Amino acid sequence: MNLILMGLPGAGKGTQAERIIDTYGIPHISTGDMFREAMKNETPLGVKAKAYIDNGELVPDEVTNGIVKDRLSQADTEKGFLLDGFPRTLAQAEELDKILEELGKKIDNVLNIHVAEDVLVERLAGRFICRTCGATYHKLYNPPKVEGTCDRCGGHDFYQREDDKPETVKNRLAVNVKNTKPILDYYENQGVLDTVDGDRDIQDVFIDIKKIIDVNN
Ligand code: AP5
Ligand code: ZN
Repeated sequence: MNLILMGLPGAGKGTQAERIIDTYGIPHISTGDMFREAMKNETPLGVKAKAYIDNGELVPDEVTNGIVKDRLSQADTEKGFLLDGFPRTLAQAEELDKILEELGKKIDNVLNIHVAEDVLVERLAGRFICRTCGATYHKLYNPPKVEGTCDRCGGHDFYQREDDKPETVKNRLAVNVKNTKPILDYYENQGVLDTVDGDRDIQDVFIDIKKIIDVNN
């Protein structure tokens, strides 16, 4: 089961990814998470990526393609994987097909979570994340069941992302809107694209996603 999760910033990729990997037991490959981990550890990759991410720009394709190729070559992707936030340019989508061909794999489903832009701004402004396990919450739409305690790991330490500042969000959305259409067309032509209405209750969005995965895998 080789899946791609697409959607503009704040569409709910990370939120749905948590549920998909818990249900299907496949590894979650999020380029955003990989960059944030590298930034936290101040590795050469992290230092390079930070300059782009803090401005809401995309990290250059050659850097991003390289880390995805390495990650997809690891043994735990044998039974499948969930790519989240990659590809984000048409060049990345084309490179991904080359990488997968070399590895003897192919994409089964591209799940595109569609949400209107004005909703996204509000979602990103209210997002906070568990520092221990990475679970994502929203102060209004998805708070932890017990205030101040992560549902998933019981942790008490939460943070807001640097790139969720309103100035950066504006550019992140613009950059992603521009790049998304050609990628959706690319996967539509391959017959693997499904679009889900992401402006509904989190669990309802997941039910739709699960149906699509179960029909195709
Ligand atoms: P990345 O980490 O991938 O960020 P993003 O695409 O901007 O997406 P987000 O993580 O912000 O949103 P999400 O869709 O996961 O939403 P979430 O579930 O959190 O990338 C970060 C940066 O890294 C990029 O800007 C770029 O610089 C770089 N990068 C990454 N990949 C790259 C690539 N391939 N090429 C080049 N550069 C790359 O939900 C958002 C909020 O809404 C949460 O608070 C959540 O609780 C809430 N929410 C979720 N679903 C619902 C719902 N149904 N109803 C109400 N609220 C909801
Ligand atoms: Zn947690």
